Amino acid sequence: MQDLRDKTAVITGAASGIGLALAQRGAREGMRLVLADIEGEKLATAAAALSIAAERLSLHTLDVSRDEDIGRMADDAFQRFGAVHLLCNNAGVGLARVTWEHTLQDWEWQLGVNLWSVIHGIRHFLPRMLKQADGGHIVNTASAAGLSSTQGMAAYNVSKHGVVTLSETLYSELAALQAKVGVSVLCPAWVPTAIHQSGRNRQARFGVAGEISEVSRGYEERMASAVTAGRKSADDMADAVFEAVAAQRFYVIPHRKINHAIQLRMDDIMQQRNPTPLG
Ligand SMILES: NC(=O)c1ccc[n+]([C@@H]2O[C@H](COP(=O)([O-])OP(=O)(O)OC[C@H]3O[C@@H](n4cnc5c(N)ncnc54)[C@H](O)[C@@H]3O)[C@@H](O)[C@H]2O)c1
Repeated sequence: MQDLRDKTAVITGAASGIGLALAQRGAREGMRLVLADIEGEKLATAAAALSIAAERLSLHTLDVSRDEDIGRMADDAFQRFGAVHLLCNNAGVGLARVTWEHTLQDWEWQLGVNLWSVIHGIRHFLPRMLKQADGGHIVNTASAAGLSSTQGMAAYNVSKHGVVTLSETLYSELAALQAKVGVSVLCPAWVPTAIHQSGRNRQARFGVAGEISEVSRGYEERMASAVTAGRKSADDMADAVFEAVAAQRFYVIPHRKINHAIQLRMDDIMQQRNPTPLG
């Protein structure tokens, strides 16, 4: 999709980080915006700073892990703006601890927000996008954690590998149909956002994070310092996404330094070697 002016973008997790940068870039492109986040006040404040007319903007305070929330947003978006051209399934949460210290609710929270949200987004938006004469594009935010398996992030890794394979499957199916809807998967490494503080909006139904060992605390600290030290910005991620949408590129991997980890995993698999620990 080349000309985005007056087209409609739906972006989840738009109150902060990469989602906010996507919204800012969308506004600069002259798009109509449907923005969603669980942090409603923060979303309203962020949206007020966008240069976009009120009638071209729709805000939703919702929980992306809930199918009915995404369904309501989709109905509103199509009713209000007639079409959705760019869907960014971006909201996500992260939690670091050793695999066996993830509680059932830790798993449910991360799979709900990171993976089920994308499934809900595709189910509610794609059938209507496929009927649009001018087509559209879906961008799913996965992670480098969807292409490799770093220690201390099992539920996150599982959720993001899920997003990658879901996106790859969708890509093949849409290509086989020569559909006018494209798909891309964004796989960043560390970006300085608020992802390491994800617990701030952990929904009550997922309980609170449990007691963890020193080993897990080490993984938590490492995640926080890696996020804050990230060299590429959320704006860089948004630029890479918009470039990929224009070029119809599927894999969006802005940090080329992760190629090594991807290659290592592929070589391990191809040579049937045991996984090389990534640290
Ligand atoms: N920052 C990184 O290092 C990094 C790396 C790889 C992938 N990612 C992915 O990028 C995406 C965006 O994260 P970010 O880094 O901008 O973090 P962030 O915390 O700054 O932004 C995430 C946004 O999602 C929202 N959110 C969380 N749970 C939600 C829910 N249940 N319903 C609706 N909104 C919810 C948050 O309120 C927040 O505004 C995530 O999918 C994340 O996994 C981030």
